[in-house]
Amino acid sequence: MSEIICVVGARPNFMKMAPILAALKTYPWVRPLLIHTGQHYDEAMSRVFFTELGLPVPDRNLEIGSDAHGKQTGRIMIAFDSLLEERAKARLVVVVGDVNSTMACALVAVKRGVPVAHVEAGLRSRDRTMPEEINRIVTDMVSDLLFATSPDAIENLAQEGIDRGKVHLVGNPMIDTLKTHLAAARARDANARFSLAPKGYAVVTLHRPSNVDDSAGLGRILEALSGLGRLLPVLFPIHPRTREQMARLGFQGAPGVTLCEPLGYLDFLGLMDKAKLVLTDSGGIQEETTALGVPCLTLRANTERPITITEGTNRLLGDDPAAIVPAAASILAGDVPPERSPSLWDGKAGERIAAVLAASVGDD
Ligand code: UD1
Repeated sequence: MSEIICVVGARPNFMKMAPILAALKTYPWVRPLLIHTGQHYDEAMSRVFFTELGLPVPDRNLEIGSDAHGKQTGRIMIAFDSLLEERAKARLVVVVGDVNSTMACALVAVKRGVPVAHVEAGLRSRDRTMPEEINRIVTDMVSDLLFATSPDAIENLAQEGIDRGKVHLVGNPMIDTLKTHLAAARARDANARFSLAPKGYAVVTLHRPSNVDDSAGLGRILEALSGLGRLLPVLFPIHPRTREQMARLGFQGAPGVTLCEPLGYLDFLGLMDKAKLVLTDSGGIQEETTALGVPCLTLRANTERPITITEGTNRLLGDDPAAIVPAAASILAGDVPPERSPSLWDGKAGERIAAVLAASVGDD
């Protein structure tokens, strides 16, 4: 049996790894080992996803928790290095996305001579103030297998001199998960629990440090959200990073704006699907709204996922919150991007990735 170590750490990793793990199980010579770094640890940020996505209980949780980036990354590296020392026969380490756990475990693996596979390789915002951009660049540079979700990622990797032979265009495993769970998500009618009429409300998520860490900037965004609440009902599930800042500002909501705790995968997917529009600064949500055909307004000056604009429903608002209300008003007036779905976002990316992984390790 060939052991493949699959690493997850933070909320957006779980839905990317689930279809890969499921597909790896169909190769009798592969033994996947699931490692959770513990970067995210709350019930709402981690455990609920394991339950809802049918992910196995991790074989090991490194229980790293939150800290400053350098300290958190360092602690993940130390713990993962010990794990690799123990699992001396591991043939491959698979990392997904762009969180600190992704980069930390990729670096440790390459230093131990264990090949690294990076799922969601080649995305670039070209904004090095984003912690994720650094994680993407470093992880891609040390990876032996690079799985791209879209052709623009392949071009980015080529520009950085990465050997095309290592790169595989496989589609988007997060969209596999969305397709698997969409019917169940719809059936939960989470919108009714919040008294929201189908296609009659907006969903908002914000957690990027560039939007939420500065009180004055966050204050301007919250003011714009109050304006949005005058146009249509708004549901705003609050990420823990954002909650801390909002508490400091004393923001308790506004007429038309309902605040709630972070939601589980199924409720959130169902709420996005039935929303009139979604306002976000998340990377994954830009992709999920594209797959759902729901208009998305992204409160950022750049995106590492341009395909969600050229072939999807996403629109970049820049970093000025004053753009929120006019952009939402134009969606309400019927100015919505056409529904399209990027090619290979077809629910089979996990199978394609697993086939390459299984072939690369062979039977021991
Ligand atoms: C991390 C990722 C980001 C991803 C996001 C999704 C990095 C650099 N950032 O950002 O790319 O989009 O996850 O959520 O890896 N906290 C809790 N409970 C938890 C986890 C965090 O309360 O389970 C709080 C802590 O106060 C922590 C803060 O949230 O300090 C931020 O968490 P952290 O993992 O550092 O970064 P995120 O902003 O979540």
